[in-house]
Amino acid sequence: MRTEFCEQLGIEFPIFAFTHCRDVAAAVSNAGGLGVLGAVGFTAEQLEVELSWLDEHVNGVYGVDLVIPSKYEGKGVEGLSPEELEAQLAQMVPQGHRDFAAKLLADHGVPALPDGEHHNELLGWTATTAAPQVEVILRHPKAKLVANALGTPPADVVERIQQSGRVIGALCGSVKHALNHKAAGLDFAVCQGTEGGGHCGEVSSLVLWPQVIDAVGDMPVLAAGGIGNGAQIASALAMGAAGAWTGSLWLTVEEANVPPAQMSTYLSASSNDTVRSRAWTGKPCRMLRNDWTDAWEADDTPNPLPMPLQMMVALDGVKRGHRYPEAAKDVNFNPVGQVVGMMNRIERSADVVNRLVSEYVTACDRLTKLNG
Ligand SMILES: Cc1cc2nc3c(=O)[nH]c(=O)nc-3n(C[C@H](O)[C@H](O)[C@H](O)COP(=O)(O)O)c2cc1C
Repeated sequence: MRTEFCEQLGIEFPIFAFTHCRDVAAAVSNAGGLGVLGAVGFTAEQLEVELSWLDEHVNGVYGVDLVIPSKYEGKGVEGLSPEELEAQLAQMVPQGHRDFAAKLLADHGVPALPDGEHHNELLGWTATTAAPQVEVILRHPKAKLVANALGTPPADVVERIQQSGRVIGALCGSVKHALNHKAAGLDFAVCQGTEGGGHCGEVSSLVLWPQVIDAVGDMPVLAAGGIGNGAQIASALAMGAAGAWTGSLWLTVEEANVPPAQMSTYLSASSNDTVRSRAWTGKPCRMLRNDWTDAWEADDTPNPLPMPLQMMVALDGVKRGHRYPEAAKDVNFNPVGQVVGMMNRIERSADVVNRLVSEYVTACDRLTKLNG
């Protein structure tokens, strides 16, 4: 199971776990895979705290995931601080969208955040907000792998990460995007089929993985989208993938900081319950379908705004959903892939890694018997 890419990173299993929760990232890295912490929700100061914690709790190495989209409103605006960019973008958000979101939450009885609780509206998904996060990563030697979502990262980021001895790659949902990553000199690509949780393209994993692997030649490709067991990892490696990149699976582990009400929503959902919607982030993203996604997709309601404006509208809903998950049950942001139908019980992260490895071995044995 140990691929060349594992050797390069110094990890035992080619199992990559995307998560927003440091406890999960640490547990996966310590179990022989690679935990990758999603940085998008953290300010640079918060990220510094998270990575310092990971330095203390991870024996080997871990990864960090940035979101610098190739296309977004406000791209190319130079010389502004994150706060100034946020203020400028806020002027582009129609009041009608804010009112619609506020009414949706009020109609569902989701309490407002306590008075005076301020949050930034612009998360780390612009080059401006991600730049200070890059500086933080460079201060943490165990942060050995950097991935970027929603496009090829800017050339200066690629150069700085590589010169520091780290590897940098990016997610892709099409052959074209994978070729862009290769042309930019990235070290690896994460190829995510449409069934995956979070932002995704339209082609399924089984069809997309072999095309991307073939197209990029010697660039390592991590297969993502729909992986919930070790037999699927065996199939990805059989196709030539350098590893398996997983996300949804880590939402229902014991260490995940997912509130119980939201976790039970995930545990009881089937593979038919997800939808690819722009209703939260402004770009197509796979999540559980609910009253929020239905409301924004209806014909007589405002259309979701482009990224990052829609999230500036929706972030209040995300924060209220975190704080009041019971009340927000039908309007919460529940990003997850179709693999949610395989996530039916809470497991420890290390047990998930061990299960994936043993299922991988069983699948390989099955094939060996066929050959014998
Ligand atoms: C809750 C959630 C949030 C995600 N957020 C990000 C993100 O911020 N950056 C990113 O590169 N990928 C993100 N993804 C996608 C994952 O990195 C991964 O590619 C995807 O989950 C793989 O498909 P799977 O969910 O079927 O395992 C997210 C996925 C989920 C489930």
